[in-house]
Amino acid sequence: MIIAIDGPAASGKGTLARRIADHYKLNHLDTGLTYRAVAAALLAQGMPLGDEAIAIEVARHLDLAKMDKSVLSAHEIGEAASRVAVLGGLREELVRLQKAFAAKAPGAVLDGRDIGTVVCPDATVKLFVTAAPEARAKRRTAEMQGKGEDASYASVLEDLKRRDVRDSSRSVAPLKQAADAHLLDTTEMDIETAFQAAVDIIDRTLAG
Ligand code: CDP
Ligand code: CDP
Repeated sequence: MIIAIDGPAASGKGTLARRIADHYKLNHLDTGLTYRAVAAALLAQGMPLGDEAIAIEVARHLDLAKMDKSVLSAHEIGEAASRVAVLGGLREELVRLQKAFAAKAPGAVLDGRDIGTVVCPDATVKLFVTAAPEARAKRRTAEMQGKGEDASYASVLEDLKRRDVRDSSRSVAPLKQAADAHLLDTTEMDIETAFQAAVDIIDRTLAG
């Protein structure tokens, strides 16, 4: 069983993916972390984010079990990740890792931008989680302020919108709802309500 969850930044897909994996006893991979890990390594080495040869080299040595979410969740790493994510050769390398993860028993929940379209086109259930940019910016600002990061709603909103445009307009594997994905708009939902809605969709799909 494979559950594919895609959507823009701060739509709640990561939190939902974790809870869904827990609920159905499946493995979970936040694929955004793979792009973040490559971007963070390039930044640490002072390399340009467009250097695809080095990005691919970093990806080849990536250990999914060793990605440190607490380090990689920084706002500027998300921005840098969306810049390296336009590199087609790098994506091929990371998609290979992600597909291998998805193939392991007992199955997995993967969240990202291209899971339903590229990584797991035959997923058992596909969800496309979205929310209005203003709701997402409010969530991300609260999240950052909670961690003591310096964040203003206006700048977070502007960054999210810019990242949406970059992620949706790139030529390779852009952010887009798969034809067979269920849309879940969480603008007016808290996490609990969104989780219940997701479980309803999944259970209904499994029941066929
Ligand atoms: O958590 P948030 O939604 O802010 O970002 P993320 O999921 O960690 O993804 C960071 C960036 O990686 C995104 O803006 C995308 O450009 C890229 N990404 C991607 O291209 N494909 C994926 N499957 C996952 C992330
Ligand atoms: O993975 P993604 O970037 O899509 O979002 P997330 O990390 O799951 O959620 C971003 C923040 O918004 C977290 O602090 C969530 O708890 C919060 N959130 C919320 O308050 N209500 C929702 N319906 C979804 C997420």
